Amino acid sequence: MGEKEERLVRVLTAAPVVPVLTIEDRATAVPLARALVAGGLTALEVTLRTAAGLDCIRAIKAEVEGCNVGAGTVLDARQMEEAAAAGATFMVSPGVSPRLLAAARDCPAPFLPGVATAGEAMALAEEGMTILKFFPAEPAGGIAYLKALSAPLPGIRFCPTGGVGPKNAADYLALGNVICVGGSWVAPGEAVALGNWTRITALSKEASQLGRSHNAVY
Ligand code: 3PG
Repeated sequence: MGEKEERLVRVLTAAPVVPVLTIEDRATAVPLARALVAGGLTALEVTLRTAAGLDCIRAIKAEVEGCNVGAGTVLDARQMEEAAAAGATFMVSPGVSPRLLAAARDCPAPFLPGVATAGEAMALAEEGMTILKFFPAEPAGGIAYLKALSAPLPGIRFCPTGGVGPKNAADYLALGNVICVGGSWVAPGEAVALGNWTRITALSKEASQLGRSHNAVY
């Protein structure tokens, strides 16, 4: 495992859940991040799906202590460069293209690329990338699919995201090939809009207390 991937492992093992944040209003970024960190979730993925995304990453990086802010929905090399310049400490994508992979090699921050099949995971493992996002986890086969991959792909660890929530997060985390899970449930849109940071801290606390598999080796 290379140095960048080791850094990714440290970020992703700090807490069992990575909140996926799609923030419309830049003014909510810092209090939202503080509320999540107060509950124990410290690796935050801010998606680049909104116009405010990059600004939110900059603001969290500058103003929130005790967390790692990453960029999500990174689709091309330009977005990856912009996110790195904004201070993102890890990059997440829903899938991989050859150009995005080339950009990730040059990027100072580690990359968590999305896959949904055994073949995609094998192709990335050939590139030395063994920590992968499994996306979209539930539609792509969920827990049964990840279980089926563990014997043929023993060296790969996944962060399932997409349809993961309070009902199934613990079951995903019980799998030996799951390093952490990602999801938006810890920051519901209506709580963010109302500035209900107490609720978000409570959801974060519950999520941060979820266990992980005893079989998982990092
Ligand atoms: C993502 O961007 O990774 C997913 O959209 C998050 O999925 P969820 O909203 O089902 O948690």
